[in-house]
Amino acid sequence: MFKKLALSAVMAVTLTTGSAFAAGGEGHVEDFDFSFEGPFGTYDQNQLQRGLKIYTEVCAGCHGLKFVPIRTLSAEDGPGLPEDQVRAYAEQNFEVFDEELDDFRPARPTDNFPANDSLGAPDLSLMAKARAGFHGPYGLGINQFINGIGGPEYIASLLTGYTGEDMEQAGTILYENTAFPGGWISMAPPLYGEDVEFDDGHENDLHHEAADVAAFLMWTAEPKMMARKQAGFAGVLFLTVLSVLLYLTNKRIWAPIKRKHG
Ligand code: HEC
Repeated sequence: MFKKLALSAVMAVTLTTGSAFAAGGEGHVEDFDFSFEGPFGTYDQNQLQRGLKIYTEVCAGCHGLKFVPIRTLSAEDGPGLPEDQVRAYAEQNFEVFDEELDDFRPARPTDNFPANDSLGAPDLSLMAKARAGFHGPYGLGINQFINGIGGPEYIASLLTGYTGEDMEQAGTILYENTAFPGGWISMAPPLYGEDVEFDDGHENDLHHEAADVAAFLMWTAEPKMMARKQAGFAGVLFLTVLSVLLYLTNKRIWAPIKRKHG
């Protein structure tokens, strides 16, 4: 009897783990396949560059990235842009206020991306880690362990989750969105597909654009993800070798005694 109960409990947990969607007022988060998932996943440099382009041309008008130094765009484990391109990118796209000059000047790689609170839109630097798209069975975190916390999935689902319905509430227009908790968001749909053109002709339909900019925002939120995974793997490898050595040592130490009593 008890065994049967335990078994069905385990099955129930497994079943709930399989579904990535939380009930209640939470939005619907779709599972996107990202290159950086799993213990060996890495960022796709081309995808980060495409995401940067979408952020710059579409999102930067309303959202800042104030915690991200522009120079990190040249990081090998990030977008990997050559340094002269990073300099040109900074100069051409952003102006920052220089306290010494007491005036605005074109941004330099040593500056951070500017903040932008002109329209009350939240800063996106850490957004991919501030929102969890996946929720496991309470307290277990199994689903999040397997699928990640779902921050970039949440962002991509938000960008693709508009239904086309809107309504006015207290002078603000709200747009219906299946991913946004509560279902109505004040951000107008920023992407429709074919909003940006890529030099290499990469696909720019809504789904691809949403995934690319979400991947870029995962990188801004966790630029050292790959180094962290490598360190983790080295740690596991080290502990595995250590375990084998200790096992063999143990066997050897006890061998004479076992022989005597065997
Ligand atoms: C016209 C201005 C505007 C543009 C362009 C814009 N946003 Fe927003 N965004 C907003 C506003 C305003 C909010 C706050 C919405 C709210 O809380 O109802 C917001 C909220 C968000 C949120 C947070 C949602 C949450 O869970 O709180 C994310 C993520 C986001 N935007 C991503 C993007 C991305 C990615 C782009 C570019 C593809 C973009 N936005 C373009 C105005 C904009």
